[in-house]
Amino acid sequence: MRPRISILTSFVLVASRIVLADVTTGVPDAAPRGFEDWESPIVLPSPPVQGTDDWASAVDRARAFVAMLTLAEKINITTGIDVLGRCVGNTGTIPRMGWNGLCLQDSPLGVRFTDFVSAFPAGINAAATWDVDLMRARGKAMGREHRGKGVNVALGPMTNMGRVAAGGRNWEGFGADPFLSGAATAATVEGYQSVGVIATVKHYIANEQEHYRGGSDAVQVYSSNIDDRTLHEVYLWPFAEAVKAGVGAVMCSYNKINQTQACQNSKLINGILKEELGFQGFIMSDWAAMINGVQPALAGLDMNMPGFLGYGVGPQNDPNPVTATNSYWGAALIEMVNNGSVTEGRVDDMVTRTLAAWYKMGQDTGYPNVSFSQLTEETYLNGELVNEHINVQEDHYELIREIGAASAILLKNENNALPLSVGNIKRIAIFGSDAGPNPDGPNGCMDRGCDQGTLAMGWGSGTANFPYLIDPLAAITTHINSMDPTVVVEGVLNDYNLAQVKTIGSLADTCLVFANADSGEAYINVGGNVGDRNNLTLWHTGDTLITTAASVCANTIVVLHVVGPVLLEAWIDNPNVTAVLHPGLPGQESGRALVDVLFADGENPTNPSGRLPYTIAKLRTDYPAEVLYSSGNSTPQITYSEGLQIDYRWFDSKGIEPRFEFGFGLSYTTFEYSGLQISVSDNTRRAIPSEALSITPFKTLTATATSNFSASSASASSSPSPSWSFASVQLSPTTSAPPPPLSSPVGDIGGPRELYEDLVTISFTVQNTGSVEGNEVSQVYLAFPSEYGEPPKVLRGFERTYLDVGDEESVEITLRRKDVSVWDVVRQEWVGVTGEVWVMVGSSSRDIRLQGSFEL
Ligand SMILES: *[C@@H]1O[C@H](CO)[C@@H](O)[C@H](O)[C@H]1NC(C)=O
Ligand SMILES: *[C@@H]1O[C@H](CO)[C@@H](O)[C@H](O)[C@H]1NC(C)=O
Ligand SMILES: *[C@@H]1O[C@H](CO)[C@@H](O)[C@H](O)[C@H]1NC(C)=O
Ligand SMILES: *[C@@H]1O[C@H](CO)[C@@H](O)[C@H](O)[C@H]1NC(C)=O
Ligand SMILES: *[C@@H]1O[C@H](CO)[C@@H](O)[C@H](O)[C@H]1NC(C)=O
Ligand SMILES: *[C@@H]1O[C@H](CO)[C@@H](O)[C@H](O)[C@H]1NC(C)=O
Ligand SMILES: *[C@@H]1O[C@H](CO)[C@@H](O)[C@H](O)[C@H]1NC(C)=O
Repeated sequence: MRPRISILTSFVLVASRIVLADVTTGVPDAAPRGFEDWESPIVLPSPPVQGTDDWASAVDRARAFVAMLTLAEKINITTGIDVLGRCVGNTGTIPRMGWNGLCLQDSPLGVRFTDFVSAFPAGINAAATWDVDLMRARGKAMGREHRGKGVNVALGPMTNMGRVAAGGRNWEGFGADPFLSGAATAATVEGYQSVGVIATVKHYIANEQEHYRGGSDAVQVYSSNIDDRTLHEVYLWPFAEAVKAGVGAVMCSYNKINQTQACQNSKLINGILKEELGFQGFIMSDWAAMINGVQPALAGLDMNMPGFLGYGVGPQNDPNPVTATNSYWGAALIEMVNNGSVTEGRVDDMVTRTLAAWYKMGQDTGYPNVSFSQLTEETYLNGELVNEHINVQEDHYELIREIGAASAILLKNENNALPLSVGNIKRIAIFGSDAGPNPDGPNGCMDRGCDQGTLAMGWGSGTANFPYLIDPLAAITTHINSMDPTVVVEGVLNDYNLAQVKTIGSLADTCLVFANADSGEAYINVGGNVGDRNNLTLWHTGDTLITTAASVCANTIVVLHVVGPVLLEAWIDNPNVTAVLHPGLPGQESGRALVDVLFADGENPTNPSGRLPYTIAKLRTDYPAEVLYSSGNSTPQITYSEGLQIDYRWFDSKGIEPRFEFGFGLSYTTFEYSGLQISVSDNTRRAIPSEALSITPFKTLTATATSNFSASSASASSSPSPSWSFASVQLSPTTSAPPPPLSSPVGDIGGPRELYEDLVTISFTVQNTGSVEGNEVSQVYLAFPSEYGEPPKVLRGFERTYLDVGDEESVEITLRRKDVSVWDVVRQEWVGVTGEVWVMVGSSSRDIRLQGSFEL
């Protein structure tokens, strides 16, 4: 029998053998191979909120408020009133106390389902800027819009990892590296919460594909099977950064992890989120992700959204949670307390956590009332005034344009094809439906569930209405025309009229070809793509459009509005394709931001500095993992057998040449790196008292590892046989006794505070040695001593630096203790590595300019 990859030791030591055997494209469903080993232990009871650090006063006030409430009033805070309220999620209210309830509203790129709001660049574009200040500014601007509309809880950021390139919702998140994603997540949370909006980091966790993702009405729900170390070092990392940044809310996902629904996975909620990460806020279910009532309550869930049993299950019109019978909580939660299944103490904690987040953001005073209805953009609904049409856009269009330009990634640029100069153009042709408007209007398809016209966001709940969408053809025409009205500009928006493309293309001196690839959420099927993309190629026969144009036009410039990696092999080496620009999903200012980069001569000239937040492979089969598209199991098994080796880590460790590596992006200028200096702080060898790092468990672990990876003892020679034993345990009702007093405090917020201490400072000089000003994104990768079984290099720092021609600047990157630690599955804590750590500083993950090392 072949070894299973169920434990870390065997995984680390024999990774290549196993992974090669297991991963093929269109991965066979892993179920037949012993998924009984992938189970989640039970961790009880749920850790009550502690009021740690800067949460103390908010938690005190929340406790005082909760002490005044009846059980029915508390229940009203835990359970939503259905999807027929003004927001996509609404808790009940407490009229007796004048408490108006909470409005929860999508999405991670703006305020969904209403008017006079902005459509921001998608999360994946925020990541492509590699600029933490822009990420934070975006979060803050979105926060102001949510607040301005009266939204208490914004349902973003989304920070799943892009494990599979075709994953439908990858574009909502921040790419395929945990460090980049963690930095973007933390900055976005800070932005939202700086203006008093509760941010929601989601989807907790391992919601990496749309097929079989689950939901209360799903017949098949996949289980993401992840070993403990991979969970901590990859998938949990951005959530931990969000908790450290003070995030007020977390949303659990639809899928299962190790066979257990995320929203009732006590190991993940009680054990990891609330105990290990010391999370002080509340965790809500994804919409109709609950499949029963008692287990989520015991497992640590705090809020049932949107409150009903499921889409299409039972009546959806009882606006009063306390009496609602179409809910797993509401009236049922009262019954659970009365019959002893759930303690009132657990309910108190649910409510305390929720109100603590509300107090912490200062929402108890002067917070705007909800002034819109997700159900309509009309003013009145059934005679009631529901939409005050409050305009919350401010000057956010400027930031949207700036991020749009800063996230454009230049992939190819031969002979200075870009930037374009109007003075050199007599006749320009612009091809592809992606260059023009959607004939049905920018919001012509429900939740953007179609691919018509230029693509500026994907589809699903992660969307917002465009107030307008500047399409490329309009913006380019306007720009050229403003400088020289005699230039001929011809757009051919029909992707399939290749004869016209040839005719016009052969006459033009410059051809721009636009193509796209779309994806989204599973509840909308676009052209047979059920959320996840079916392929990694361009839509609307984009490859043919490009090769047709290039066959007649020696200066063909390709522009890609894509949700994630696409295969470029059909034409990337074609000498007539002189430049390729990848603006991703830029939001409402798409065309203007594009002009800023293509011409770099208008109001906002921008030298491209965007960098790929994922790897673009030559072949789909080069990626380490795939979407599971088809399965006969009720619980399709998705085993993360690639472990830590997602995206570039896999390409590096397998020696696979990508087309464009993670972190890649060209500039109109050149930069030189010099003067690498590394200093290790005195803290390094300071012994961490074991009490400070280890959290005394007040949990019942029913699963134990009998084999392990321990940093200090790892050696490449042994090959232990995996033997894990799990007791098969059902969550059972607890007694009605209050939870036992804590024997020790739950963890520091975000994990032991020592992890966040600065440990190593890396500095180097970057100089602009070219002929135009611009930003350089410098990246720091580390290689740990080989015995730790880490990927060949991992990103641990980055900085975007603006430099005038000839100027140089010293860049300083600080590594925290966590950045040089690995998760030890036996000790159940982060362990600092010892030995020599290699530092690689460069302009991408494969363009390393400086190297050095330090010793820990
Ligand atoms: C899932 O199972 C793996 C293998 O047994 C184990 O390492 C990991 O800790 C489990 N994770 C959770 C969240 O239960
Ligand atoms: C619960 O919330 C509903 C909806 O806002 C409200 O009508 C009801 O009065 C609340 N119940 C209690 C007990 O406060
Ligand atoms: C308690 O009530 C809940 C909600 O109705 C129900 O699901 C559960 O089975 C009950 N438990 C007991 C022990 O009666
Ligand atoms: C919200 O509405 C209530 C009336 O329902 C009003 O008393 C209060 O002043 C409003 N708050 C704000 C900030 O406008
Ligand atoms: C890939 O999927 C898109 C969208 O469904 C489709 O337009 C295109 O034809 C597909 N490509 C290939 C090569 O099948
Ligand atoms: C490049 O374009 C020219 C027309 O300018 C054409 O003659 C030539 O065949 C094209 N080359 C390729 C490889 O398509
Ligand atoms: C697990 O690690 C500890 C600490 O290094 C070691 O003493 C023990 O023998 C290891 N257990 C197994 C089964 O390898």
